[in-house]
Amino acid sequence: MKYITTIGKGTLFRIQIVTLLCLMCLAGGLHSQTAMVNVLNRHKTSLNGDWQVIIDPTGIGEWKQVWQEKKPQKKTDFVEYSFDGGPYLKVPGDFNSQLCELTYFEGTIWYKKRFQNALQVGKRLFLYFGAVNYMADVYLNGEKIGSHEGGFTPFQFEITDKVKPGNNTIVVKVNNSRQANGLPGTGYDWFNYGGITRDVDLIETGNSYIEDYFIQLQKGSLNQVLGWVQLNGAQAPQNIRVKIPELNLLYKTRTDKKGRAKVEFSSRIKLWSPESPKLYKVIVESESDTLADSIGFRSIEVKGNKVLLNGNPIFLKAVNIHEENPYKKARAYSIEDARILLKAAKELGCNFVRLAHYPHSENTIREAEKMGLMVWSELPVYQHIQFSDSVVPKKMDRMLNEIVRRDKNRCGVIVWSLSNETYPGTPNRNEVLINLTAKCHALDSTRLITHVINTHNYKDNTFNVWEPLYKYSDLIAINEYIGWYDPWQGNPSETRWQIAFPDKPVFISEFGGEALYGNNSAPTDEASNWTEGYQEKIYANQTEMFNTIPNLCGVCPWILFDYRSLGRMNQVYQNGYNRKGLLSEKGEKKKAWYIMNEFYKKK
Ligand code: GCU
Repeated sequence: MKYITTIGKGTLFRIQIVTLLCLMCLAGGLHSQTAMVNVLNRHKTSLNGDWQVIIDPTGIGEWKQVWQEKKPQKKTDFVEYSFDGGPYLKVPGDFNSQLCELTYFEGTIWYKKRFQNALQVGKRLFLYFGAVNYMADVYLNGEKIGSHEGGFTPFQFEITDKVKPGNNTIVVKVNNSRQANGLPGTGYDWFNYGGITRDVDLIETGNSYIEDYFIQLQKGSLNQVLGWVQLNGAQAPQNIRVKIPELNLLYKTRTDKKGRAKVEFSSRIKLWSPESPKLYKVIVESESDTLADSIGFRSIEVKGNKVLLNGNPIFLKAVNIHEENPYKKARAYSIEDARILLKAAKELGCNFVRLAHYPHSENTIREAEKMGLMVWSELPVYQHIQFSDSVVPKKMDRMLNEIVRRDKNRCGVIVWSLSNETYPGTPNRNEVLINLTAKCHALDSTRLITHVINTHNYKDNTFNVWEPLYKYSDLIAINEYIGWYDPWQGNPSETRWQIAFPDKPVFISEFGGEALYGNNSAPTDEASNWTEGYQEKIYANQTEMFNTIPNLCGVCPWILFDYRSLGRMNQVYQNGYNRKGLLSEKGEKKKAWYIMNEFYKKK
């Protein structure tokens, strides 16, 4: 039987109106802008410091419209919310570590900050956030200016036409509740630090300013720079100059009608490397703006089954790092925090850090570059992701754009990792991630691109490595926990490998096991005792097994420091910590640290 539904003209008209309104709403959706690059060196006013807050566990502040800061008008009026009288929180910084009542808080916190404005004619003003975890709704003087989703990438709003002379008020609704269709989703093995976790700045520019640029070596070249400069607000083509004073280099070019100029020059450049992390002062000039940056030049590529840095094979001596200052039990964000984590990686003997599982702060990226540490940058496309939700690929695209824009001039970044431990059988997963890989290539063809997988088959002491995403990846990145989650099935030095892509470099992106520092009295051959000796044995066996891996280009123990993760609930040994650190949360070296340090010394 054929069903034909008939609807009256009136209903059809209403449907059309509703559809039109929905489309207008989507089109006019108050999204933030992708942030301009190199905020560090721009003309800005910091809004860091004390912000007033309202803690709103039920989220009722939305219904009360707290951003309007209503005041009683008549004697009989009263208002049942106020920022006055409430606590202050430090920005930047997660809120969980600032007030004990917020330790495990996942919900809404309203932040408020006043600032004075004296914007001159012919100038533009932007409100910039280094990161807000997880959702941010931003209001200026009682009017919503936009929203941003994602806890680890920068965003901005142009407020030139919205800001008032004198006193202005920003209100930010921050919500770190887990989102089923978020990036990450609801389940992840790290602490969900919420808040305005990185810098907030007011950035002032001229009517036309240098919004973005890409100045790096052309793929495969050791002396040819190929890039571009993008202006914003240019009414007509402008002359552009790129200067590298130390090289006596002055390159002139001109923007097109869209404000874009090609950059292409060659020079004898001292290449950046872990041994010699050379950075040059690079000055980009338009007819109305000047911006200096500190840029290194290096070549990273895969040739056959080798990773080449500046044309030479390199073994990637890595370690995994979460963005947590272990001593503060807080989200890391500052230069000092970065130095604590990165110095510990250097002391271990690393030349490479995998910044798991989300983009870390720009402070960390820039400090790593100065210290000669290559960087693996990763999107929080972590394990259970709702690939079949049509908004999820759009969120991935935005986040990818945001992090590639921010860090593409940071030569220390050598890998874009687009996923970690997603599952091959998930509907749409392959299609979505293959598309994402293509988009990443289009954004930046100069770096390695990969996906991290842990769904390999380990049977009869044989590792069977096959995964559709490896076809599109520059590295075969494998997470394996033999000796911890998977008992050994034979002699580590007799492990056999069947790898479906025999011509690609293999990177062990995670391995290890747990131990409580100082716990050495219980029998060390039982995992459930969490002894250092058990962890040490895992590392001894792993380093033995590494010799059996074909095309091994690097290894990356999980993880540098013990770190907070609420799912780790063994109250004798874990107490809310993932204890796979080579260092305790107090920086104490476990026995396994010395195994890894010795291994790297020999590499
Ligand atoms: C996984 C995952 C990590 C996690 C680790 C563990 O491989 O990538 O995020 O913390 O294993 O179980 O400790």
